[in-house]
Amino acid sequence: MRKGTTFTRFIIEEQRRIPESTGEFTLLLSSIVTACKEISDDVNRGQLINVLGSADTENVQGETQKKLDIISNEIMIRAMEWSGNLAGMASEEMETMYSIPSRFPKGKYLLVFDPLDGSSNTEVNVSIGTIFSILRCPDGITDPKEEDFYQAGTQQVCAGYVLYGPATNLVLTTGQGVNGFTLDQDIGEFILTHPKLTIPERTSEFAINMSNQRHWEPAIKRYIDEVVAGEDGVRGRNFNTRWVASMVAEVHRILMRGGIFLYPRDNRDNVTKGRLRLLYEANPMSFIIEQAGGSASTGRERILSVQPEHLHQRIPVVIGAKEEVERVHRYHIEMDKELNGSPPHRQAN
Ligand code: AHG
Ligand code: MN
Ligand code: MN
Repeated sequence: MRKGTTFTRFIIEEQRRIPESTGEFTLLLSSIVTACKEISDDVNRGQLINVLGSADTENVQGETQKKLDIISNEIMIRAMEWSGNLAGMASEEMETMYSIPSRFPKGKYLLVFDPLDGSSNTEVNVSIGTIFSILRCPDGITDPKEEDFYQAGTQQVCAGYVLYGPATNLVLTTGQGVNGFTLDQDIGEFILTHPKLTIPERTSEFAINMSNQRHWEPAIKRYIDEVVAGEDGVRGRNFNTRWVASMVAEVHRILMRGGIFLYPRDNRDNVTKGRLRLLYEANPMSFIIEQAGGSASTGRERILSVQPEHLHQRIPVVIGAKEEVERVHRYHIEMDKELNGSPPHRQAN
C-alpha cells in the first residue's frame, strides 16, 4: 500500500467541506487533470511518437505553432467539452472562444488555458507545462460570449498548472492556499507531495530574459542593474539568475525556493503591452503566487485587479517574492513621476 493522499481523495475531501457543493467542480478538475496526464504522456514520448517540431501554422498572436501546441489544445478540448460542467472555453491556440457543441450539456463554469507553455523548449527536452484558470459563467448565461470571459483575476474560482519536467507536478489553488502534487507514473495518480506551499518574502534569485535589456523601461533597467551589481552595489548582496523560457518552470522554481520573475513590457513592437497573456498566463500564475504569500504586479498595479478587454490581451508581469515585487513597483512609480509628473493610465490593448 502506497503512502500519501491521492488527488482524487484530496478534491473529494475538499468538496465535503462545502455542504452545498454539487460535485460539478470536482468532476471538472478531475477531467482537467486527466487531460494533463495525456499531455504529459505525449510530451514524455514526444521524440518516439513523432510529435515534436513545428506544425508550420501560426496562432492568433502570429507565433509559429508546435505540433504539440495543437495536440495539447485538442486533448484539452476533447477531454472537457462533454463533461457538462463548462459553458465555454478559451485557449492561447484558438483565436475565438470555443462554444460547447449542442450535443453536450452545458455547465456553470468557463475554462481558459495555455495548453502548452514554453513550447519552444519541446525539442530540447526542457520543462514545459499547461496553465489553466476556471471562472464562473455569469449568472443566467448558458451561451456565453467572449465578453463573459473578461473577468478580473480576482474572480477566478481556481487556477493551476501542470509542469512536465523530470517529474510531472500539479499545483493548484482555489483561494485557500496552494497545494502541489506529483504524478506517480506507476499508478497514474497525482499524490499530494507539497501541501500548503508558501514562498519566502525575501530572495536573491531573479529570472528575466536579459537579451531584451536594451528595450526595457528605466525602472526595470534600474532594478536589474542593482541586482547584477550584487554586493558591490546598493543592494549589498549577491543575486543569482535563471531563465528557462517556460513560465511554468519559473513559477514552480519560485514556489519551491523563492525568487522573482519578470517579463516586463518593452519597446519592441509586439511587446509594448507585455509578452505574456493576461487571461491564461498572468492571472492564474498571479492567483497561485499571491495565495502562496507572494505578489504579482504589472510594475504599476496588481495583476489580479486588471479588467480584461480581450481574450488574448498581453500584460507586463512581475511576480514572486513580495519584497522584490514591491521594490520594482516603487521604481515604476518613481520613474513615472520623473518622466511625466504623474503615472500613466493602465495599459490598454
Ligand atoms: P508559450 O510557449 O505559451 O507561447 O509561452 C512562452 C512564454 C513563457 O512561458 C516564457 O516565460 C516566455 O514566453 C519566453 O519568452 P522569450 O522567448 O521572449 O524569452
Ligand atoms: Mn505560455
Ligand atoms: Mn502556449
